[in-house]
Amino acid sequence: MDLVLVEKALLGLFAAVTLAIVVSKLSGKKLKLPPGPLPVPIFGNWLQVGDDLNHRNLASLAKKFGDILLLRMGQRNLVVVSSPDHAREVLHTQGVEFGSRTRNVVFDIFTGKGQDMVFTVYGEHWRKMRRIMTVPFFTNKVVQQYRYGWEDEAASVVEDVRKNPKSATEGVVIRRRLQLMMYNNMYRIMFDRRFESEDDPLFMKLRALNNERSRLAQSFEYNYGDFIPILRPFLRGYLKICKDVKDVRLNLFKNYFVQERKKLSSTKPMDNAGLKCAIDHILDAEKKGEINEDNVLYIVENINVAAIETTLWSIEWGIAELVNHPEVQRKLREELDTVLGRGNQITEPDTHKLPYLQAVIKETLRLRMAIPLLVPHMNLHDAKLGGYEIPAESKILVNAWWLANNPAQWKNPDQFRPERFLEEESKVEANGNDFRFIPFGVGRRSCPGIILALPILGITLGRLVQNFELLPPPGMEKLDTSEKGGQFSLHILKHYTVVAKPREF
Ligand code: HEM
Repeated sequence: MDLVLVEKALLGLFAAVTLAIVVSKLSGKKLKLPPGPLPVPIFGNWLQVGDDLNHRNLASLAKKFGDILLLRMGQRNLVVVSSPDHAREVLHTQGVEFGSRTRNVVFDIFTGKGQDMVFTVYGEHWRKMRRIMTVPFFTNKVVQQYRYGWEDEAASVVEDVRKNPKSATEGVVIRRRLQLMMYNNMYRIMFDRRFESEDDPLFMKLRALNNERSRLAQSFEYNYGDFIPILRPFLRGYLKICKDVKDVRLNLFKNYFVQERKKLSSTKPMDNAGLKCAIDHILDAEKKGEINEDNVLYIVENINVAAIETTLWSIEWGIAELVNHPEVQRKLREELDTVLGRGNQITEPDTHKLPYLQAVIKETLRLRMAIPLLVPHMNLHDAKLGGYEIPAESKILVNAWWLANNPAQWKNPDQFRPERFLEEESKVEANGNDFRFIPFGVGRRSCPGIILALPILGITLGRLVQNFELLPPPGMEKLDTSEKGGQFSLHILKHYTVVAKPREF
């Protein structure tokens, strides 16, 4: 018999059972739930709102239903928070209650059911992992140890772009070179390693696996199995691919990086200055029995996903906005020339003396937020928010992009205008001192990587603008800044070509 028919019959049966469960659940409990579109049985609001719950679509829904709204995506409750006051409640006042992460079948595979830090529930394990990761990654000492490396990496990007005759004529896809730079910036911290070129076979393998992991995790393709558990058997093929990618990737981290470092430190004592790289600290924690070997690999996994592409997307957006706003680019170059002296290459300490550069970075993070809905939060237990009852294990999306782009709160928010951060919003920082602007989140689960991301952004954008005039490719007025979103990421749709005309000093 036709397999499709069997599948349909099974689906019908499953649907009937689910309907019965949903009806009994709905009639059993009377909660004061947040408003939202009327759900239908089984599918909830899924068919109405679709898969792509991006920051813009969710902002439109908030205009209709309010600052706290509920969507039922199949069996899952999804709460969308769209005002600074309610964001404060979720991230700060009730930071413990809402401090967990949602899990789904795909993330369960990539994180070994929460053995990592970024996607694990709030509790002992998270606290320990965050503590263990802080010294090796997230302190000013780390910035001071590695900033020379970041400056060298940015200098080598400038050199490679200068050397390429295409840069000044038809242009280059600068993202590719910047991606290598970001891997090097982070692999120096993690393993004291760098990759020589974009063609380095190990780099190519690593990049391909990371890309595949991100694609599989951010895709909307697996929503149906996540929203409607009885459909999960149909995800078997997808999950098998996820598992294979995960196994190969963790083995690569283990065999080519962690083991190598272990060997090195057993044959040769750590250097005299006591400058350990991050993995040495993490392996110390393993030796003390605080974490196991898998936890070590998941830390490496987390840094690969949380640090590299997010910062790269922000650099990519920053360049695109500078190309499309030549007056901003000119003004930034003038600031660099005036404060540092023409030709003196920007270093990390300089970034603190350059208010316009800081404003350009903030404006990029405001308009083009890399994680516009933050990493989804979750309440482990029933909770209250803004007078509504939030059922346990709801997925909580804070629409940080909307908080930073709501015309009721910001002057002409759709304009790229760094001046706002020197004028009417001069007190607003990227660290979450104002709940209208939280590109790194705020509170317990906020991004600890902000301490590294901001100087890297400053050094990279600064060096590019000092050394080049950045222009759209011949025949184009502006770069295409269409967006592409995933489950909770936002990057530019087309990796553009940019003309980089070298400046003479
Ligand atoms: C421009 C670059 C970056 C942006 C925009 C960014 C943004 C974010 C956001 C929005 C979150 C979630 C906050 C929340 O859920 O409330 C987050 C979490 C996190 N980020 Fe970043 N991030 C960036 C760079 C980095 C870097 C460079 C690192 C590491 C070196 C990093 C490591 C992490 C980690 C470990 C978490 C999870 C924290 C937790 O769950 O406790 N990020 N980031």
